[in-house]
Amino acid sequence: MHPLQCVLQAQRSLKWGPLSSVSWLLLRTCRAHSSVPSSSCLSSEGQSSEGVEKDFSSRLAAGPTFQHFLRSASVLQEKPSFPEVEDPPPYLTGDELLGRQRKVYLETYGCQMNVNDTEIAWSILQKSGFLRTSNLQEADVILLVTCSIREKAEQTIWNRLHQLKALKTKRSRSRVPLRIGILGCMAERLKGEILNREKTVDLLAGPDAYRDLPRLLAVVESGQQAANVLLSLDETYADIMPVQTSPSATSAFVSIMRGCDNMCSYCIVPFTRGRERSRPVASILDEVRKLSEQGLKEVTLLGQNVNSFRDNSEIQFNNAVPTNLSRGFTTNYKTKQGGLRFSHLLDQVSRIDPEMRIRFTSPHPKDFPDEVLQLIHERHNICKQIHLPAQSGSNRVLDAMRRGYSREAYVALVHHIRECIPGVSLSSDFITGFCGETEDDHLQTVSLLREVQYNAGFLFAYSMRQKTRAYHRLKDDVPEEVKLRRLEELITVFREEASRANQTSVGCTQLVLVEGFSKRSSTDLCGRNDANLKVIFPDAEVEDVTNSGLKVRAQPGDYVLVKITSASSQTLKGHILCRTTLKDSSMHCLT
Ligand code: 5AD
Ligand code: SF4
Repeated sequence: MHPLQCVLQAQRSLKWGPLSSVSWLLLRTCRAHSSVPSSSCLSSEGQSSEGVEKDFSSRLAAGPTFQHFLRSASVLQEKPSFPEVEDPPPYLTGDELLGRQRKVYLETYGCQMNVNDTEIAWSILQKSGFLRTSNLQEADVILLVTCSIREKAEQTIWNRLHQLKALKTKRSRSRVPLRIGILGCMAERLKGEILNREKTVDLLAGPDAYRDLPRLLAVVESGQQAANVLLSLDETYADIMPVQTSPSATSAFVSIMRGCDNMCSYCIVPFTRGRERSRPVASILDEVRKLSEQGLKEVTLLGQNVNSFRDNSEIQFNNAVPTNLSRGFTTNYKTKQGGLRFSHLLDQVSRIDPEMRIRFTSPHPKDFPDEVLQLIHERHNICKQIHLPAQSGSNRVLDAMRRGYSREAYVALVHHIRECIPGVSLSSDFITGFCGETEDDHLQTVSLLREVQYNAGFLFAYSMRQKTRAYHRLKDDVPEEVKLRRLEELITVFREEASRANQTSVGCTQLVLVEGFSKRSSTDLCGRNDANLKVIFPDAEVEDVTNSGLKVRAQPGDYVLVKITSASSQTLKGHILCRTTLKDSSMHCLT
């Protein structure tokens, strides 16, 4: 049986996903497992944790059974809204689920999905009466939103926990004890190992358990450890409007799908973030409309495989229309059918506000049917920028990675995209030193970089992850120094190719969305062009072409035309010509 089928069957029978042993709602006592002495565990009222524990224990005894958790699992899946505050579990009172003005410090590691998850987690906590602080010293609760994709990402968190342990130990006894939580992928991957290895951690919440944070924090408040790492088949946080971290921002991320079904052999994501599921179109459109009303000028649709989007939330969406894949690409899973697909969503989102730029990340190359490419070409507000993760240029390695395409199919897709969307900017991800990668395989990757001439790239040395197919079946046999040497070589080639590609912009006029002053100079403004490349130019008074005669200085959120005068691999420089609008600039051919 395919391992994925195994997982699926386990999920169906238990409803709570593959990790659904109910014991994973871990409740442990502070005294037995925490490095914090029991006398220092004070509740909010200054009551000793022992009193709280006793009270809690008696309520717990009269409280949930195995059956209770199974029941609440299905309730959670059926009800989109968060029920705990109005309808608390019998062993915790509504009051205990309220944040009691505790100050939460959130720290984000990893990808854009984690940035968005932080905003979702904060939205949930804010509604529950918690306050947010950006001052670590002031915090009552520190939550780290973590990443597991490579060993190094996890090491960063272990180091951070070490520092936080000192902070926790030094915390004055007159204050409520400092609580520390691990959220996201690392909580999901390591589960109890974190609680055993680092006693300073009080709380674990996997990527599908953020709605449970108020309850978990209420348990922690009483001096216990608490964990929920249950994966879900349908959690998309559809009804939760993330709180934008920076209120002055010109752009926002909108999560449209979660999880991944691809099972590339090197990747931990399907194990930490679970099965692929998409958010209902209507709730995405609602969120984008709200962001447009708030004056935001750019949204990036987010998902692990953003263009594999498939909204099956309503029965009438499930017609038997077969899925169009990119030519020459296959899936590792049984072909899915029906649902509202990415092209439908993109069409609807791009109609909301003609002054709002639309981007999306991170796509999979297999899901670029012609209807998606056509839409990107014809809509003035969908950016002509596509991330096309290749991972390797060698067919042998692509096969071992289980990517579902050959180098030839990938290159044909690149040509097809460039024909459909003239001037499109391309970027990619590559891994060096995957299991069995030879020098010849590596050189094929170098030649792919030369052939495609990407505008940007994200390059990584391979890091073996437990649970993955590569971990079970392949040998991590490329020495670390060889992985790093190959990585350096790819970085050099990428820089050369990106500089060359960006040089073609010199002398052209480009539309730039202003973000603010440049970090390096208070007399320069900084913004991004359609390709998402940083553009720097001196701040100067210019004419507003949509309001002729009016002299203005560009502000964050304004669209301006910039004449490009120089280019490097990562940045363009130029001078500002005028203020304009997205729609207006699209009607004039920019050269
Ligand atoms: N080691 C190194 N890089 C990895 N990626 C995913 N898993 C691993 C791993 N085990 C890279 C891929 C992916 C990007 C997000 O991270 O290139 O596209
Ligand atoms: Fe990982 Fe592959 Fe899924 Fe991307 S598509 S998240 S690389 S398994």
